[in-house]
Amino acid sequence: MITSTDIAGSPVEPFDFVLFGGSGDLSMRKLLPALYFRHCANQLPADGRIICAARQELDTDGFRALMDAESKIHIDEKDFMEDHWLSFIERVHYLRIDVTVQSDYEKLKSMLAGREEHVRVFYLSVAPSLFNKITEGVNAAGLITPLSRVALEKPLGRDEASADVINDELAAVFKESQIFRIDHYLGKEAVQNLMALRFGNSLFEPLWRNERISDVQITIAESLGVDTRGRFYDQTGALRDMVQNHLLQLLVILAMEPPVSVDPDAVRDEKIKVLRALKPLVGRDAIENTVRGQYKAGAYDEGTVPGYLENEDIPNDSTTETFVALKAEIGSWRWEGVPFYLRTGKRLEKKQTEIIINFKKVPHSIFETADGLNEPNQLIIRLQPEEKIRMRVYVKAWGDAITLQPVHLNLDFNDVFQKRRMIAYERLIVDVLRGNPVLFMRRDEVSAAWAWVDPIQQAWEHFQVEPKAYRAGSMGPSAASNLIHRDGFAWYEE
Ligand code: BG6
Repeated sequence: MITSTDIAGSPVEPFDFVLFGGSGDLSMRKLLPALYFRHCANQLPADGRIICAARQELDTDGFRALMDAESKIHIDEKDFMEDHWLSFIERVHYLRIDVTVQSDYEKLKSMLAGREEHVRVFYLSVAPSLFNKITEGVNAAGLITPLSRVALEKPLGRDEASADVINDELAAVFKESQIFRIDHYLGKEAVQNLMALRFGNSLFEPLWRNERISDVQITIAESLGVDTRGRFYDQTGALRDMVQNHLLQLLVILAMEPPVSVDPDAVRDEKIKVLRALKPLVGRDAIENTVRGQYKAGAYDEGTVPGYLENEDIPNDSTTETFVALKAEIGSWRWEGVPFYLRTGKRLEKKQTEIIINFKKVPHSIFETADGLNEPNQLIIRLQPEEKIRMRVYVKAWGDAITLQPVHLNLDFNDVFQKRRMIAYERLIVDVLRGNPVLFMRRDEVSAAWAWVDPIQQAWEHFQVEPKAYRAGSMGPSAASNLIHRDGFAWYEE
């Protein structure tokens, strides 16, 4: 059995990594730097090639120069080693291709000829409308070998029906075991650490249920706006861009039953049970339990930023949401009665991903508290920008009477590991090269996530729910606070 814990281990098998969209933003910012770090860790064998495929009129030398200008800057100076970079770019080759023209695949064919025994990855960092063109193109050119794999970036469709079409088209060409659907949150160390925390310690499991937990909050806040991604974003919105995938993945990992092993299907079987147990938010229920928002101009320490509608790629009457808050509930013995409050947004006060587990109060309090409050225990798991765990417990305040005072037990992973924070894609790319699907979304998982999200989108459209305005630099519209206040809770803000 392959586990995903062996990332630091031995080199992967010889490979050809064909990166469609090779000159794009994701490739320059994340994918090529991720491959560079794996190269530095001696994990890429000498016979491992990276073929960047795109439409620009460039040759390999021109592309390597582009990497020098646009990719190198995304590697932290302290982690950059010139000699490694130079040997890394030797692996990189460029293929000019129009993926809609079948004859162009002949060029790829000749580049791959004679290397049928190598692992072959087709990595699609392109618009979903091109997925099918490329999979058909490589198939028609006879490029799919038994050791071939395809990796796809989200979004996989814009609802369950369109995701099904994409999945059917993929299934016509690749076996499910060859398909790697990426949600980059699953590649983050901090997200994998959630599983380690829950299932590697006996401490939490007895508490991890409705008898002990009152509510759970998951926030993925971003300070950036949509910037150059306006055209894509306006067609997508925060529900499809963040909730359907990243937020639901975090919820599922927090709420799943312990899997019997780390075998990919054992884990994914448990994850899908949670998705299917989410209580549907349909019609009026969806309206009452969700909040849409859109940012207006606002100020940060660095200066003011324009509102969403001021972006030149956004129509000025756009009603696309850049913020979502919602209350989800899971119908199961473990979670009945525990609300999961999720929120995400662009141009919020700060970039921060955080999970808050609020425990129930002691059933009968016999002590006074120094602050007059008797807040329950709270577990705060910060996933980014720093990785920290903080637990609020009560202790006796210094002094004579037994008066309680809250203190925090703090664990900062930077102090414990003192290592470079890996790019999520490092692990994901190595897992694709190794053929290990544990951190990727299975087809039924993607469908189940859409099946829960679709009725929310439909209700917004049916009731023409306009997004509530919020100021850039704030934590979203006030309606998001009302959503949680009405149940007697409040968003945790540090
Ligand atoms: C992507 C979304 O999947 O995740 C982006 O499309 C978002 O809109 C990004 O900014 C956030 O990722 P991270 O790793 O910066 O939290």
